[in-house]
Amino acid sequence: MNFYILTLFPDMVMQGLNTSIIGRASEKGLLHIEAINIRDYTKDKHKKVDDYPYGGGAGMLMQAQPVYDAWKSVVDRVGYQPRCVYLTPQGSVFHQTQAKSLAQEKDLILLCGHYEGIDERVLEEIVTDYVSIGDYVLTGGELPAMVLVDAISRMVPGVLTNDESGCTESLEGNLLEYPQYSRPEEWNGKKVPAILLSGDHAKVDAWRRQQSILRTAERRPDLLEKAQLTEKERIQIQKNLQEN
Ligand code: ADE
Repeated sequence: MNFYILTLFPDMVMQGLNTSIIGRASEKGLLHIEAINIRDYTKDKHKKVDDYPYGGGAGMLMQAQPVYDAWKSVVDRVGYQPRCVYLTPQGSVFHQTQAKSLAQEKDLILLCGHYEGIDERVLEEIVTDYVSIGDYVLTGGELPAMVLVDAISRMVPGVLTNDESGCTESLEGNLLEYPQYSRPEEWNGKKVPAILLSGDHAKVDAWRRQQSILRTAERRPDLLEKAQLTEKERIQIQKNLQEN
């Protein structure tokens, strides 16, 4: 899968994405991640990419021309208009199901804003998806773009090894992952739950499912409303909530 990240800070993005699992997948050729410096496309003789907003107000805006030309350079190269995601707190909040769906794309353009944002006219021309990574404001779209590249890439076939793909299901059914334990059997006076040592796979699976549900009820009740639970499981949650 090919990612084209339009940014004023290409080094920041590339340095964050060339290590660990994503770096390895890029080396293997499963991913191609490229940062395109918007400043390289300005026609201003001082290399300026921003200006004051019409109507007044605080801060500067990224101008339409360099953003459009940076985008056009990718479109001309790939020969069509791939989906173009603008990272903004005004977008819909990113979720695992969207990561999975975007991983189906062959090419994806990610647009990172800075200053007070980008001239609306170019956004209307090029952006297909407005995405936020949460209800807080960052200084730019670079960290959100890196979050998307990571979350989408791990859904691309071959990027995770078999050992790593275990956590793929987490969040997909709108349930949080169950607690996990490794050696030693006792640490700091705390024992691993006996059922995990029993060797009874059916019981282990049932225990993990129950733990997932309880954990989600406790930490993310908003998710639980969307999870597919049996009637018995819903009754169990009510019972647990009443007891606590
Ligand atoms: N740019 C600034 N803040 C952001 C956020 N929360 N999500 C996506 N892009 C952003």
